[in-house]
Amino acid sequence: MKKMIDLLTQEMQAAFEAAGYDPALGRVTLSNRPDLCEYQCNGAMAGAKQYRKAPIMIANDVAARLQDSKVFSEANAVAPGFLNLKVTESFLAEYLQSVAVDPKFGLEMPEHPKKIIIDYGGANVAKPLHVGHIRSAVIGESIKRICRYAGHEVIGDVHLGDWGLQMGLVIMGLKERQPDLIYFDESYEGEYPEEAPFTISELEEIYPASSAKSKADPQYKALAMEATFKLQSGVRGYRALWKHILNVSVADLKKNYGSLNVEFDLWKGESDVHDLIPDMVKYMKEEGYAYISEGALVVDVKEETDTKEIPPCMILKSDGASLYNTTDLATIMERMKLYNPDEIIYVVDKRQDLYFDQVFRCARKTKLVADETKLKFVGFGTMNGKDGKPFKTREGGVMRLENLIKETKEEMYRKIREGRDMPEEEAAEVAGIVAVSALKYGDLSNQASKDYIFDIERFTSFEGDTGPYILYTIVRIKSILGKYAEQGGDLTKVELKEAYNESEKALMLQLTQFNAMMQNAAEEIAPHKVCAYIYDLANAFNHFYHETKILAEEDADRKSGLIALLVLTRDVLETSIDVLGFSAPERM
Ligand code: ARG
Repeated sequence: MKKMIDLLTQEMQAAFEAAGYDPALGRVTLSNRPDLCEYQCNGAMAGAKQYRKAPIMIANDVAARLQDSKVFSEANAVAPGFLNLKVTESFLAEYLQSVAVDPKFGLEMPEHPKKIIIDYGGANVAKPLHVGHIRSAVIGESIKRICRYAGHEVIGDVHLGDWGLQMGLVIMGLKERQPDLIYFDESYEGEYPEEAPFTISELEEIYPASSAKSKADPQYKALAMEATFKLQSGVRGYRALWKHILNVSVADLKKNYGSLNVEFDLWKGESDVHDLIPDMVKYMKEEGYAYISEGALVVDVKEETDTKEIPPCMILKSDGASLYNTTDLATIMERMKLYNPDEIIYVVDKRQDLYFDQVFRCARKTKLVADETKLKFVGFGTMNGKDGKPFKTREGGVMRLENLIKETKEEMYRKIREGRDMPEEEAAEVAGIVAVSALKYGDLSNQASKDYIFDIERFTSFEGDTGPYILYTIVRIKSILGKYAEQGGDLTKVELKEAYNESEKALMLQLTQFNAMMQNAAEEIAPHKVCAYIYDLANAFNHFYHETKILAEEDADRKSGLIALLVLTRDVLETSIDVLGFSAPERM
């Protein structure tokens, strides 16, 4: 269905035309003076030159044509030539009723839905998830849900780091601890055990220890590189061990991502494209794209219009080993073959900006990607501590996602127990749900590309621009609706009515903007726009709530209209938090 702003524009264009002016001038926008009007049109200003008239004269002519409008209750021409607009209560109620019965609240589905792959998460196997990965998971999950809600086909791929030196380091670390493992016996030809010879906690100890050792001991590092090479060239025991590492690690990752409501459609990784690399390299050489420079195989990606130096994209190192680039290029090739997407979106730390620039250029130049397929990099900023430096634990170490969630939950639990009498068990459950909203909203409400300060105090507050405030508003609505039902009211039999006062109208107007907002958030890949919208919506609701008696309303017809407005507000808020990737409890 059409957006409110488009319907208003239609009415305004007709008025411009009737007054003898170009209808194209009649574009209506939201008011930037909400104290004066709800909408505005600046077309008279724009038409002044064309018609050699003072803008106010044009505005007056147009306003005169709108005096009997069923859409605008007010159309005032004000100096120097603006049209200040208000909509009629009847038009608003009618529009909003059609929004209320639409399964997507007025959001139109695309004529040609796109197939989009989102590459996010990007966890590295055998390394614990840290806060650097939280942003990718949180933002990527939301982008996936927004695009899906907007009618596109979306495939989320975790793109695990499961093939590089870290695997060799883990294997070497294991060898040090358990040198007699059958996996290291290269003459062994039998079956390998099904059970992994380590647990997730051992695995998590092994990597950092081995990584530290390799930094101090070049000989050890050489062994780890050799182990990586053996793994990649298919030595049986190493492959079998690697499968164990992958399985144990992925099970743990699924649990961690799950606690943040993050779910991937594909659990592919760098290793999946290993076998595609030789053919890709051959093709790049044969077509003359790749050449040897100082021993390495590279593709030039600089362009004439570059203002800064873009180095060539390296495909193979001088020892023939592949790189992060190589797996990313082969992954593009595979994705094109398997899914032929219209778009691939990468949600990665913005410090990898230049890197992705090289990869995208290389993929285009070598025609690994179709001309019509868009490659988009959504780079995110750093999560900082209150000192403005990258977020650390109190001890100064890297904060692990698990602990971050745990700490947020504890803080939430404390706040919930402090403010209300809720049984311990319920409080713990509710704290878990609300903590996820605190973390995610705290992240998503910032434009992704910006750095932000992780402030647990602020994020867990029930007041202000926070996740818990939004949830609190939803729970408040649910509680009123619950009481209405208890009193015998039927929520399915309510219908929106015309607004009675300013705050009610403001809430209704806010609700009409959902469709335009969601379309815009999907087009611009911008979850923060959903956050900004629901914050305004929650404020509009709470303002209305404080000024209106609802359950005590005696006029049954009016009460039904109020309840319908609550139902719609709840539904729009819940739909919005769902695309942000969190949910509301029943009580809090
Ligand atoms: N594993 C990488 C890291 O931790 C992120 C992967 C991002 N995705 C990609 N296609 N390169 O830095």
